[in-house]
Amino acid sequence: SLVMIAAVGLGYLLGAVPFGVLVTRALGLGDLRSIGSGNIGATNVLRTGNKGAALATLLLDGGKGAAAVLLARWLGGESAALVAGGAAFLGHLYPVWLGFRGGKGVATFLGTVGALSWPLGLALCGIWLLTAVLTRISSLSALVAAAAAPVLALIAGKGGVAAAALFMAALILLRHRENIARLRAGTEPRIGRRS
Ligand code: G3P
Repeated sequence: SLVMIAAVGLGYLLGAVPFGVLVTRALGLGDLRSIGSGNIGATNVLRTGNKGAALATLLLDGGKGAAAVLLARWLGGESAALVAGGAAFLGHLYPVWLGFRGGKGVATFLGTVGALSWPLGLALCGIWLLTAVLTRISSLSALVAAAAAPVLALIAGKGGVAAAALFMAALILLRHRENIARLRAGTEPRIGRRS
């Protein structure tokens, strides 16, 4: 239907805004894609040494996912919200503005899932944070939270959210191939380190 097409378009366009690149550039911190891992996310913004810029990126990349879900829910209800959340996530991973070379989707995933189900979002943020406090490794925290998402959504009896979370978790896993190789080699950098 027209509402679903609008949800996909709106979700994608919101998701495709590369806030990490924009915030970093606006603050004169350089080209994010030639810093650290080259990723456009908050973890890599932190490698510029600017914590505020990293926090802003985290909130904006999460917020765009949440905004897509909330707008689409208002427009067309729960199925539109699910579709818009998935589209926003894909927009972050494959943004037309960056030649379809986008990010790893962790913040946008948390924002999207959080807007679909706030208790689930809260639980996933808690899992991410706990893993990060224990290990100081952003990618590992993301992988643990992503793996937990479909399981927790199923336990909560939210089938649609579980399907969306499984889809996003699979793509997060694929996007972290280089991180996984570094984790296995013991060379994955800790949060906040410059290299
Ligand atoms: O949010 C992405 C994070 O999981 C890994 O980022 O820059 O360390 O590859 P990065």
